[in-house]
Amino acid sequence: MRKKIVAGNWKMNLDYNEGLGLFSEVINMVKDEATGTQEVVVCSPFIHLHSLSQLAKGYNKVSVGAQNAHHAESGAYTGEISAKMIHSVGAEYVILGHSERRQYFGEDNELLAKKTDTVLKYDLKPIFCIGETLQQREANEHFDVIKSQLAEGVFHLDAEQFSKLVIAYEPVWAIGTGVTASAEQAQEIHAFIRKEIAAKYSQQVADDITILYGGSCNPKNAAELFAQPDIDGGLIGGASLKSRDFTDIVKTFN
Ligand code: G3P
Repeated sequence: MRKKIVAGNWKMNLDYNEGLGLFSEVINMVKDEATGTQEVVVCSPFIHLHSLSQLAKGYNKVSVGAQNAHHAESGAYTGEISAKMIHSVGAEYVILGHSERRQYFGEDNELLAKKTDTVLKYDLKPIFCIGETLQQREANEHFDVIKSQLAEGVFHLDAEQFSKLVIAYEPVWAIGTGVTASAEQAQEIHAFIRKEIAAKYSQQVADDITILYGGSCNPKNAAELFAQPDIDGGLIGGASLKSRDFTDIVKTFN
């Protein structure tokens, strides 16, 4: 069901105590200040998932997520973490297809389709990331890229499975750069994504899916972005590592 969601992606940051400290600050701020946002999701490194999930139990608006999951259910994959393990420690979401995983770890749409299936099988909610590089945008290929990432990554799902997803549009050229997509640029792609979903499934499925924007979102630009009709919140990187900034973004929906 479509929700106003603000999700933080801590990426590879914060040791055990630092993570506990930040999460505690965020919970204390959000519980008193956030009224419009329907869900706050913190996607942390694996080491934090159990402790943060335990803390989040006391707050129905706050959930915890992982930043990846292996596509296999179990087996000889040294160093990997499975969806079953993530579910067992209380996390509810898993970011999949982040551009950094696509770029640094060679994750393509075919592998991400398998990851999505396994994450759904273990009752976790994928936050499925799509977005074009600067080169692709400058070549006016961005619509084709988005179309293929959807078609090859998640359009194999039936309508019921697809409806469990959250989609995150993250223009790669805006991630960590301080160069945010303009509200018009972001809305144009979000509307395109929703149109593609309507064509594949139905207008109802398209209307009900949550589509987040990610890419240098901060307390100063969140209001204009989140005011767009097809932007349902944000997937926040750098600003999620500062409790005040992250909470101010969460409060955008107040
Ligand atoms: O997943 C969210 C992240 O990629 C955005 O990063 O630092 O540009 O907010 P940032």
